[in-house]
Amino acid sequence: MDMPGEEYKGGGIKISRNAAIFIACTFGSSLLLVGLLCGLLPADDPCNIQVPEPTEPPVEPVETTKALMTTERAEPTPSPGPTASAPQPWDSLRLPTDLIPSHYDIGLRIYIDDEQRFVGSISITMECKQSTHLLLLHSKELNIIPTSVRMLSVDEGWLLPKGPPRLFPANQYLIVEFDEMLTAGKSYIFTIAFYAPLEDGLVGLYRSSYQANGETRYLATTFFAPTDARKAFPCFDEPAMKVTFNLTLIHEDGYIALGNMPLLRSESAGTGWTRSVFAKSVPMSTYLICFVVCDFVEKNTTTGNGVLLRVWAREDAKDSLDYALEKGAQVLDFFDGYFGTQFPLPKMDMIAIPDFAAGAMENWGLITYRESALLYTPGVSSSSNKQRVCAIVAHELAHQWFGNLVTLEWWDDTWLNEGFASYVEYLGTDAAEPDWGMTDQFVSADLQTALDADALITSRPIIVDVETPDDINQQFDTISYNKGASILRMLQNFLGEDTFRKGLANYLDEFAYSNAKNTDLWRVLTEAAVEDGKADIKVEEIMRTWTEQMNYPSINVTRDYTSGFTLSQNRFLINPAANTTTDYDDLGYIWYVPLKYTTSAAPNFTDPTLQWLEPEREQVSIDFDDGMTSEDWLLANVNAYGFYRVNYDEKNWDLISKQLTEDHEAIPISSRAALISDAFNLAVSGQLSMVTAFNLTFYLEDEQDYVPWSVLNQVLGYVDLMLSRSQAYGLFSTYMRRQVEPFYNYVGWNDTVGSHLDQSGRVIAISLACGYGNEDCVNTAIEYYATWMADPENNPVPPNQKSRVYCTAISAGGQEEWNFAYQEYLSTSVATEKNILLAAMGCSRIPWILNSYLELSIAPNGTIKAQDAENVAGYVASNTIGSDLAWDFFRVNWDFYRNEYGSSVFQFSDLIESVTANFNREFQLQELLDFIETHPDQGTGSRAFAQAVDQTRANIRWMEDYEEEVMEWLEWAVTA
Ligand SMILES: *[C@@H]1O[C@H](CO)[C@@H](O)[C@H](O)[C@H]1NC(C)=O
Ligand SMILES: *[C@@H]1O[C@H](CO)[C@@H](O)[C@H](O)[C@H]1NC(C)=O
Ligand SMILES: *[C@@H]1O[C@H](CO)[C@@H](O)[C@H](O)[C@H]1NC(C)=O
Ligand SMILES: [Zn+2]
Repeated sequence: MDMPGEEYKGGGIKISRNAAIFIACTFGSSLLLVGLLCGLLPADDPCNIQVPEPTEPPVEPVETTKALMTTERAEPTPSPGPTASAPQPWDSLRLPTDLIPSHYDIGLRIYIDDEQRFVGSISITMECKQSTHLLLLHSKELNIIPTSVRMLSVDEGWLLPKGPPRLFPANQYLIVEFDEMLTAGKSYIFTIAFYAPLEDGLVGLYRSSYQANGETRYLATTFFAPTDARKAFPCFDEPAMKVTFNLTLIHEDGYIALGNMPLLRSESAGTGWTRSVFAKSVPMSTYLICFVVCDFVEKNTTTGNGVLLRVWAREDAKDSLDYALEKGAQVLDFFDGYFGTQFPLPKMDMIAIPDFAAGAMENWGLITYRESALLYTPGVSSSSNKQRVCAIVAHELAHQWFGNLVTLEWWDDTWLNEGFASYVEYLGTDAAEPDWGMTDQFVSADLQTALDADALITSRPIIVDVETPDDINQQFDTISYNKGASILRMLQNFLGEDTFRKGLANYLDEFAYSNAKNTDLWRVLTEAAVEDGKADIKVEEIMRTWTEQMNYPSINVTRDYTSGFTLSQNRFLINPAANTTTDYDDLGYIWYVPLKYTTSAAPNFTDPTLQWLEPEREQVSIDFDDGMTSEDWLLANVNAYGFYRVNYDEKNWDLISKQLTEDHEAIPISSRAALISDAFNLAVSGQLSMVTAFNLTFYLEDEQDYVPWSVLNQVLGYVDLMLSRSQAYGLFSTYMRRQVEPFYNYVGWNDTVGSHLDQSGRVIAISLACGYGNEDCVNTAIEYYATWMADPENNPVPPNQKSRVYCTAISAGGQEEWNFAYQEYLSTSVATEKNILLAAMGCSRIPWILNSYLELSIAPNGTIKAQDAENVAGYVASNTIGSDLAWDFFRVNWDFYRNEYGSSVFQFSDLIESVTANFNREFQLQELLDFIETHPDQGTGSRAFAQAVDQTRANIRWMEDYEEEVMEWLEWAVTA
């Protein structure tokens, strides 16, 4: 799965449920699918119970069969009183392991156009491991048809359920009890039929829509990860319960159907209906199942290794598919080689879904994307959009091995899937686009994001216990993705590329079609290390310190300026005053730290010296080799492979600063980026003087590389956020304008000049220059926008600069400029363009416009899709003029937001983070605490709220400790 990204594109409004309830006979090729209205079941000959398939859409009203409504909340066995007996199996959030499924036959009839519902049946072949009379399945918001429930013992014939099945909605269970025991060692086949509305949601089996030629077209699609397969059919919805499955879909004519596996055949299923039958799947987890019924078009190619790769989109977007197709084929072949195991399916489909909750989802053989993550339109889309497409394609393709072939045992290891894919997506992207400097980009993107998030007391260990769906959803966060990726990159660096790859190949081999835990990976990597003569590297012992406790160390490097230096480690917290008791265990907050260093006396950036810091030794002293003088600098954590911060004594910082000012290229890009980030973060936490950190920014005048600027943009962006209402802001603006000017003049506005990285650098240069009021920049932006307004058919704005140009013009303009953007938002069908406009409309400086914009975003049946409201609130909040408005609006409309996003994977936490990001005053903290106290039902937002409190406290501290100091420094710097 990948995160939605900065822009969000969501779905429609929830529809009311179908009042009239229909049921259908069932279908499919399975010998066991049971006809519901066909009277009694025949005797115990399974061969006799094949039921004629419906010849026309079934429209039998349910009068005779009362369906089991999910709303009825049929509680199982009367709740025990105070004399409570032992807890029941359904009280546990984990399925019992008495029954283990091996195969599903799934048949679904999907009514997309008029009735908006689906009916289905599933036959589950299972093995009884331990005798039981109880079957528990996951089922969520499905209406069960009680008379359809059947259990066949392969040896002994039919077993009758004891009464109708019951639901236990609290834990999303369906409970079926039998009079007779199911016997250990025997096989059973369970069949059940069900139906549900096909809602315009974003999870389970849902309906999405788009506009073509002025009409609305529909599609049915799925999003099951992590716990919503159970919303489409009852199943054992846990990742370790891998099954093969046969899928048959019956859908209206005029649509095509796609599944994980190739289509075997498509045939008529009565007037107006088509039956699509798919090949039997490989063994896989339920969360990876996917199918889509749509009227899309495709482009295809065959990869070097013979896999049919197709990319799909609505017809109007067909011309935007080529880039993903080309890069997808390259990356798929690259991973075949990298992992040493061929992609096991005969085909791979990648499809752009108009309404989509995440960025993409790695369903095996059928990857779904939001449009902005798959479509790239040359001449219209920006280069960052291009990079996003390539990186997300690489991420999802990496999952085909790491996640799909070998799957996490349980969601406490979510990071194994996500951290891994987030790391190797850089390798895949680098293979497809070797000029993009992906190794350096990792430092400004994933690494810094992870270090920021993990410096809070409200962070979490990578591995934590999880049970409820809300817990599981909250696992899909920066810690799993970015920290996971960062520590794997560190591991690869100290193990060595070859050993790491060998270990991975062995791991994929050993656990193919099965499940594994982090300890399995450590064991296999340790074995590879031993084979390669590196037995001293105790992978598990080392990695436990990075995965089982939260946060990370700062490494204190102190030179004696005669012979050498000493190293020590401290747990790093951005706010050391934070209350340090947490819910999580720790290993004493001491780590195994691999530290590579070099010096200006003998610079070596390719193979620097490795020094370990171990938990047992508080301090390590190292002597320099000869030739080191007191005027040479020492650089530790070369190229930022380590997941920690490095602090030096003041003199060494000054030596580094001097080097940067004299010739910054003597220090490589990744290290420059890390130095800036470390200095500012150490300063904020009180371990380094703010003056030392700000002094490092002097060299900016000469910096022309994207990655260090990107990090500067982040750390100074934080300063900007803190100072935005301070009297120091004027000075800060002046300083920033001055420092970015040479870079701005160097890159210019001509988007066609320079490499991909130059283009990315230009975006930052223009963004900062315009943002801090560089006159030439602002005027150019306003001019571009005015030219466009005069001739809307011809947009002259360079694609890469659209965000900043639109924002600048709307910020400087009034109602007319805003309205123009809104009209363009309504008329464009390009997803990325819509997102840019949506963000730019939040840049207005006119409060009533911002307020109407917020109102517009949540209007029922409005022009802005309901799910986009989350981003609108975030955009308005990030505007200094709008931040209070957004926070008030968020509180007033809490019910709406809680309802819409309260169980989402990424969106809810993003929203909470963005509406509180600028809080740095006591009264804001108080408002936040009051709100949390009066709104205890926070769904997937609970951790985000706790983090917002922590971050606000850190911000308040920053203001108290540094506002004045920074102002003095700025005064000195701008007059210097
Ligand atoms: C599942 O599909 C395969 C073809 O892909 C077929 O051979 C097999 O019989 C099917 N299984 C059942 C139970 O229908
Ligand atoms: C691949 O594309 C070609 C040309 O557009 C088309 O004729 C062919 O049917 C496609 N192949 C598949 C397997 O979809
Ligand atoms: C860093 O090390 C030096 C010398 O060992 C010590 O004086 C200083 O207090 C240490 N700083 C931190 C933050 O531990
Ligand atoms: Zn992922």
